[in-house]
Amino acid sequence: MALLEVEDLEVSLKSGRDLLKVVDGISFTIEQGETLGIVGESGCGKSLTALATMGLLGGTPIRVTGGRILFEGQDLSLLTPNQRRMIMGNQMAMIFQEPMTSLNPVYRVGDQIIEALQQHETLSQKQARDRAIELLALVRIPDPKNRINSFPHQLSGGMRQRVMIAMALACDPKLLIADEPTTALDVTVQSQILDLIVDLQKQTGMAVILISHDLGVIAETCNKVAVMYRGKVIEAADADDLFAHLRHPYTRGLLDSIPVADKEVEHLNAIKGRVPTLEEAIEGCTFNPRCPNVQQKCLSSYPSVAAFERGHEVRCHFPLEGNE
Ligand SMILES: Nc1ncnc2c1ncn2[C@@H]1O[C@H](COP(=O)(O)OP(=O)(O)O)[C@@H](O)[C@H]1O
Ligand SMILES: [Mg+2]
Repeated sequence: MALLEVEDLEVSLKSGRDLLKVVDGISFTIEQGETLGIVGESGCGKSLTALATMGLLGGTPIRVTGGRILFEGQDLSLLTPNQRRMIMGNQMAMIFQEPMTSLNPVYRVGDQIIEALQQHETLSQKQARDRAIELLALVRIPDPKNRINSFPHQLSGGMRQRVMIAMALACDPKLLIADEPTTALDVTVQSQILDLIVDLQKQTGMAVILISHDLGVIAETCNKVAVMYRGKVIEAADADDLFAHLRHPYTRGLLDSIPVADKEVEHLNAIKGRVPTLEEAIEGCTFNPRCPNVQQKCLSSYPSVAAFERGHEVRCHFPLEGNE
């Protein structure tokens, strides 16, 4: 049984009388110990997929309008609120792009970790404090005994993201969802945090969903990849297979947009144009206005899923040969 199975997930935004599909029938599975990368440009629906999975869309104009989310085989929508809280609050944890929005600026970081720990299990103040120091050491914060007394603003961006990871680990989750965890950080710190996530994943055996707009980040870290474009997964494969046999022109574009080290020009080969907004209706394949290989058929019908060897799937009428 998969740890997490997302089947045909749909998330919609109410806009006047219309219900706009922001996440449009997404499916993926993740097994224990796996690292799944979800990649796509900003606005493709990655964060909403994550928030829906975590059950964090309640009370917003955006809601889940279809599909199922199964955690260890249990349909989360069929659980009582208490059961759901047990799973979504304890067995899954999420970290976000900007740690300052999740850390409370007026409390010491140690106290915030202690609070997270005590929500999870009954610990004395001393036990919780010791465990918080252990967690700070685990995420490689130097001098954790003293750092535990710091306020968030006294820490660098990278250190704050480490604190967030420590808090996420406080409940010993089976699944960690990291939504652009390194986007706000400079390149060196970024790779340190990615290394940390990979190491923690190996140590704890938890599964990780890593979300990024940067295919380079995903390539370094993940063993499975789902590429999203405008609310749909347009290519999915094992990472080795994906990078050996790219099939979708969009994925090709993402790969060509990876900044080359030491080059000043960042978007040398970036994909032309931008992700269409939800209000812009597009006939046929939603990537057609930007696709270098667009043909007549792409303007009229949305491609269904084509399957290649080893479970490699792509939504494109004219998939690439796989070795370009
Ligand atoms: N709170 C919101 N209100 C209105 N539109 C939203 C909201 N959150 C996200 N969206 C829209 O939904 C789409 C997908 O958003 P998101 O999941 O955040 O994308 P990503 O994480 O891939 O950048 C975007 O077009 C975004 O503008
Ligand atoms: Mg996002």
